[in-house]
Formats: sequence, structure tokens, C-alpha cells
Amino acid sequence: MQFSLQDKWVLITGASSGFGAAAAAAFGAQGAKLLLGARRVERLKQAAAAAKKSGASEVHFHSLDVANTASVKTFMAWAKQKIQKTNLHVLINNAGGAIGLDTVAEGKDADWEAMIQSNVLGLLRVTRAALPLIPRDDGASIINLGSVAGRTAYAGSSVYCAAKAGELQITKVLRHELFGAGIRVSTVDPGLAETEFALVRFKGDTKKATELYAGTNPLVAADIAEILVWVASRPPHVNIDEMVVKPVDQADAGKVFRRQ
Ligand SMILES: NC(=O)c1ccc[n+]([C@@H]2O[C@H](COP(=O)([O-])OP(=O)(O)OC[C@H]3O[C@@H](n4cnc5c(N)ncnc54)[C@H](OP(=O)(O)O)[C@@H]3O)[C@@H](O)[C@H]2O)c1
Repeated sequence: MQFSLQDKWVLITGASSGFGAAAAAAFGAQGAKLLLGARRVERLKQAAAAAKKSGASEVHFHSLDVANTASVKTFMAWAKQKIQKTNLHVLINNAGGAIGLDTVAEGKDADWEAMIQSNVLGLLRVTRAALPLIPRDDGASIINLGSVAGRTAYAGSSVYCAAKAGELQITKVLRHELFGAGIRVSTVDPGLAETEFALVRFKGDTKKATELYAGTNPLVAADIAEILVWVASRPPHVNIDEMVVKPVDQADAGKVFRRQ
């Protein structure tokens, strides 16, 4: 039987835009109780309002920088206090992204460090702090956002590809470490999706960000949000280990058909 998300606590990192904000609305539509985190609190507030409107039974948000251990500790203490004596049934490790498209020869330390901090160390920090709140043998899920970038390589993406390859390996390691605990662990790995991802990668250059998607028919945030809900709501004995999702017009990370 499908796992009901009604009144289950769902924690989403990076809920201020893109997949995370769309996931808040999608889990909200299932009647879940939401805990949302990201650095831009004003944007979190908007995502929370939309999720409430979509049917969430409770929505709470708090600032979170997954790149900072103290911030993760504060956020998780806040989350624990919201959940009280109940449990966290779904953890969505979504915060992350790519910064810059420099070759290794031109790469910047700050960009490299920020990508490892959010996509790899952030996922680890949040998961470590969340694990004591996640119930054993009760249909709970940890779902990590990977990328096709973790499974292939393209020029200018050394650290992002490495970070998402790291995310994939951490997901697999968690499957081993949680063996017998009855906690599901999944990675959902999208291809080209139109969110604020490109704007962040190109450091606010809207022209470059728009050009990336021009003439393509990319995934949208709601496509991934729907999949995240589907993964979490499979019957408790079903673990979707890995899911790669690309637009029909994308054959590989760097191979996208342009229609205009
Ligand atoms: N769009 C794509 O093509 C694509 C494809 C494959 C995988 N992904 C992955 O999907 C995830 C979501 O990306 P998206 O496409 O939805 O991009 P997005 O719209 O830029 O959203 C990224 C989210 O991550 C949050 N975030 C980034 N660094 C953070 C930090 N240090 N602490 C807390 N939150 C942080 C951002 O919030 P704040 O800035 O407010 O903190 C934002 O909410 C990322 O892990 C990304 O790598 C994206």
C-alpha cells in the first residue's frame, strides 16, 4: 500500500527556490507537515505561504546555511523542537548547486569550496543531525538531490561533477550504514531543469542563464517535486535507489537538442 504523507513531517533543505520550493508545495498537497530551510528567509516565507495554500497541515521555516555547522545545529535544534516527540518521516537533501563554469586551469578556490560545502558537506551535516529524528521501520525516506553531472563529465564542471558523484556515493554508503534499519535512501538525479540553478552558476548573469535554456524544452521544478513525492510515497518496503530524470531533448549532460 502507498505510504501516506498526510500529517508526516517532511524537512526540505534549499526550499527557497527551484526544486525545494516546488517540493514544499507538492508535499503540502499531500497534507504533510513541513520544515523548510535555506539562507534567503524572505523567499522561504513565500514558499511556505504557497505550501500552506496547497494543503500542508503545518508549515514552518527557519534560516539554514548547510555550509556552516553551527547553522545546521541551530536549524536542527529548531526542527526537533517543532517535531517534539513525533518523528521526521522524509528528509529531502536538496540544498546545493553549481558555481561558475571555469576549467580547472581557471578555477577559483571560493567557488570550489562553496560547491563542496553545500552539495557534499552540507548533505552530510544535515543527515547526521536528522538521523536521530528519523524512525526505524516506519516508511521513512532520505532523498538526496544528485545530478546527471555526478554520472558523466563536461568541461567547466570539474568540482560540480565531483560533488554530485560524491553525493551518489554518500547515498550508496547510507544504504549500507542503514541496512536493517528500515529507512529508505534514494538519489534523484535530474538533467537540465529550468530553476535558479543557471543564474547561480553564472553568478547573477541573467543573459547567460537565459541562453542556457533558450530553445530547449527543459524539466521544470514541478516535474522533480512530483517525483520526490512519488519516491517517498511508495509502499514502505520499496526503496527507489537511484532515479535519473532528463528532458526528452537531453541525451547527456552536454547534449541538448535546441528547437530554435
Ligand atoms: N536545475 C538543474 O538543472 C539541476 C539539475 C540537477 C541537479 N540539480 C540540483 O538540485 C538542487 C536544487 O537546485 P535547483 O535547480 O532547484 O536550483 P535553485 O533554484 O538555485 O535552488 C537551490 C536551493 O539551494 C539552496 N542553497 C544553496 N546553497 C545553500 C546553502 N549553503 N545552505 C542552504 N541552502 C542552500 C538555495 O537557497 P538559498 O540561496 O536561499 O540558501 C535554493 O533554495 C541542487 O542540489 C542542484 O545541484 C539541479
